[in-house]
Amino acid sequence: MGHLHSRNIIIGVTGGIAAYKIAELIRLLRGDGASVRIILSRGAQAFVTPLTLQSLSGYPVHTELLDETAEMGMGHIELARWADIFLVAPATADTVARLAAGRADDLLTTAALATPAPLFVAPAMNQHMWNNAATTANIQTLRERGVKIIGPDAGEQACGDVGAGRLTEPETISAEISAHFPTRALEGKRAIITAGPTREPMDPVRYISNHSSGKMGFALAQAAAEAGAETILISGPVMLDTPKGVTRINVETALQMHEVCIDQIQKPTDLFVGSAAVADYRAEFNAPQKIKKVGDTLTLNLVRNPDIITEVAGSAHRPSLVVGFAAETEQLLEYAEGKRLTKQLDVVIANDVSQADIGFNSDINGVTWLDDTGHDVMPLTTKQNLAKLLIERCRQKLSQPEDQNKHISAPAEDNR
Ligand code: PMT
Repeated sequence: MGHLHSRNIIIGVTGGIAAYKIAELIRLLRGDGASVRIILSRGAQAFVTPLTLQSLSGYPVHTELLDETAEMGMGHIELARWADIFLVAPATADTVARLAAGRADDLLTTAALATPAPLFVAPAMNQHMWNNAATTANIQTLRERGVKIIGPDAGEQACGDVGAGRLTEPETISAEISAHFPTRALEGKRAIITAGPTREPMDPVRYISNHSSGKMGFALAQAAAEAGAETILISGPVMLDTPKGVTRINVETALQMHEVCIDQIQKPTDLFVGSAAVADYRAEFNAPQKIKKVGDTLTLNLVRNPDIITEVAGSAHRPSLVVGFAAETEQLLEYAEGKRLTKQLDVVIANDVSQADIGFNSDINGVTWLDDTGHDVMPLTTKQNLAKLLIERCRQKLSQPEDQNKHISAPAEDNR
């Protein structure tokens, strides 16, 4: 039985060249057990016919707001109520603007306004239209209302431009929708997740730390717990509530995080995710009294902290799947892959932290998944959504036969 069994999904298709990709999306969603109904805007009918989508979805395609026959069958309000998820894909710039404005002047926008279901929007448009301040503001408005924006991807566009604005691939859209519905697929599994920064004291009032807010790690813990895993969250000092069903252990320093992690993996563990931004160095001496201001310079000796995830991955009690993060400001994939190999990780999540709006202390994140089969760019989305996608991928990896998760020995160069 597919993960989307008995889930009802409406796809509102609007007029863009990417409308043809909806055929594949319908196939994927139905293949996973969902029932799919299509609302086709007038513009979309220039790109794809109602008959094609009717054949693929198995339901009549809805096109008009005030259509007597349609209203006698499933009227627009019933249609809106039927949905467990309402997806607009591809969403043109005009559709994004009309959704942001709360318009209800055709079937698609009316049903989108009337539905109690979560709204997902996958934009597709020319890169200049996507980057236009008006579109940015409209997308922001939708995000603030809780609408989930999927993509868009960047690349070559139908008009010949290269840039952001391509419809996200159907496989990713389908995975985003799937991840919205929690499974208990990790029931019986144990997950340990590290989160937040560490604080390395210099004296009773000062410390060395970083900008990690813990949001990514807490979202991962929430997703793991929702998927049914016994979830242990080992967190540095952050201002976040503990997600439901998660056991939280608070630490301050890298040494404390190290001790708790090594202690926790003594119990058989399926998944270890190191999303904490652990300080690589600590002050050699933690002065017992406040350091006084004397002289123009102050020299602080730093000593290296233990590399927690490397020890976890090399332990006799190694969890089945060890996943690290790599926060990089340059040469993202190269450095991330280096960390995967050096630290003997099964997976590394490459996080480009050179961009202010993703990574540290942001609500959204965009990462690349790297394992021994290659790399895969994950959609730019909220940390909550991303966490669901990542936990689902971890689940898939855990369900692969043992020899497909083989561990790699360390290469010569240490670029940790
Ligand atoms: O907390 P947020 O504000 O939500 O931000 C999320 C994040 C940017 C912190 C997160 O997504 C992220 O990228 N975490 C890893 C940050 C980091 O320290 O990366 P790194 O490249 O320095 O470390 C690589 C891996 O080794 C990480 O899994 C880290 O947890 C681990 N490590 C590092 C040093 C150390 N002494 N011990 C470790 O276990």
